[in-house]
Amino acid sequence: MNSFTNSLDNNLITKENPVPETEPLRQEYFISCLNDIIQEKTLEAGRRPTYKIVTFGCQMNARDSEKLAGILSNIGYAEGENEETSDLVIFNTCTVRENANDRLYGRLGKLKKQKSLNNDMLIGICGCMMQEKDEVEKIVKSYRYVDMIFGTHNIYKLAEILYNRLHGRKRVVDIINGTDMIVEKLPSKRVYKFKSGVNIMFGCNNFCSFCIVPYVRGRERSRQPEDIVAEIKSLVEDGVVEVMLLGQNVNSYGRGLGRNISFAGLLAMIAEIEGLKRIRFMTPHPKDLSDDVIKVMKNNPKICRHIHLPLQSGSSKVLKNMNRIYDKEKYLELALKIKDEIPDISLTTDIIVGFPTETEDDFLDTLDVVRRVEYDSAFTFIYSKRTGTPAAKYDIKPDEAVIKNRFNRLLKEVQQISTKRALSHVGQIHEALVEGIDEQLEGYVTARLGNNMIVHIPGNKTEIGSFFNVMLDQARGFYFMGHRI
Ligand code: SAH
Ligand code: SF4
Ligand code: F3S
Repeated sequence: MNSFTNSLDNNLITKENPVPETEPLRQEYFISCLNDIIQEKTLEAGRRPTYKIVTFGCQMNARDSEKLAGILSNIGYAEGENEETSDLVIFNTCTVRENANDRLYGRLGKLKKQKSLNNDMLIGICGCMMQEKDEVEKIVKSYRYVDMIFGTHNIYKLAEILYNRLHGRKRVVDIINGTDMIVEKLPSKRVYKFKSGVNIMFGCNNFCSFCIVPYVRGRERSRQPEDIVAEIKSLVEDGVVEVMLLGQNVNSYGRGLGRNISFAGLLAMIAEIEGLKRIRFMTPHPKDLSDDVIKVMKNNPKICRHIHLPLQSGSSKVLKNMNRIYDKEKYLELALKIKDEIPDISLTTDIIVGFPTETEDDFLDTLDVVRRVEYDSAFTFIYSKRTGTPAAKYDIKPDEAVIKNRFNRLLKEVQQISTKRALSHVGQIHEALVEGIDEQLEGYVTARLGNNMIVHIPGNKTEIGSFFNVMLDQARGFYFMGHRI
């Protein structure tokens, strides 16, 4: 599942050799040192120590957590059942909205007692929230039982950080403010055997005025296409049939690499990988989704018929205040062009309600776009003020009750439209990839269609990772009941 151990063997790193300066060799060195410690602990306890990673936030964090899990498995940890009973707990945090932060503190508080009962227990916090100085200070001061704090730019250093904690340091705080480094060939332990996220770029340069991501994920940097293709090929060899290409704005992929490669070009390269059945990507920014991308999608059935195209607001004024670069007309033009070119496309979106300058008329513009585009589904958020972002400076804001009212009206509209969209697929046959056991309905599995919708079909766990042609019998809100044909 990873190329890490192989390169370890090839380089014959031993503990007697000096600590390597370059990555990932340096981390391989620390992993090998930790192997001995963990082996001793295993013998002592009669079981391998366990880890639990609790992931908040987006797919970027989910992928980062797989890398953390890969490092811990290589060190010798086994995956634990839950955070209360595990020997090492890592919280991979998100800070995109205030409630993401609140959730961390809730979970962290609950572990305090657990830690007092188990002296060997270690707690680490990493991810986007740890790139905020105030949050780190708060944890250092008020959550003294946290052992390790690191950020988004150095998750690859987990082995070294853990090694330092186990070698006399009471607590390790290792945060860097930014990086232009991309560490390739990290191990990873995937949640799903048959599908995987693949980072094609890191960071963001867009600075939408409401958004904290550019501050906590740093400047945009793309991976070399050869590295991406090589990673996907090795994933495919390991049983992966579907990849999700990850970036905050995949359309700007390739900028800064100093060579002639665009996102459309990358998609075309990836589509040629034999054995790979499905390609998804997340997220394209509407300001620069090119005709070339639409063309490549059209010509490559492997690229799933789904585009997540975040609208944020339908009002040109609010969009300007948000620094989204496009306006209502440009967005509509793009969305309708995509639907025209790829008629079976599913369009989904993100919408923020209650941005500081939003008036009732602005909100009506959002509803208007929602009605005209007819999204298959939409994530709706109430604006959350993030300290340090340009929008935090506004001292105006719609009234709480007004925001709630708009939010509910939007939700109702979105739900009505997605129900209508789902109904339009009933009676169709779609290819579906079985993802897991249906937890609600015995004897059923859940499967994902190319357009990202979910269908529940009779089946069992041996079918996970397999494709079937499925008849969509019934739409229930945003998912289907169906059967294999
Ligand atoms: N890079 C992606 C978005 C990543 S954040 C893009 O440009 O579309 C995911 C979503 O969170 C955003 O699309 C936005 O709708 C929402 N979001 C980000 N910051 C927010 C804030 N301060 N308040 C409410 N929602 C926010
Ligand atoms: Fe945030 Fe905008 Fe970057 Fe998306 S494109 S991560 S919304 S700043
Ligand atoms: Fe959250 Fe960081 Fe993603 S702030 S949404 S986990 S990039």
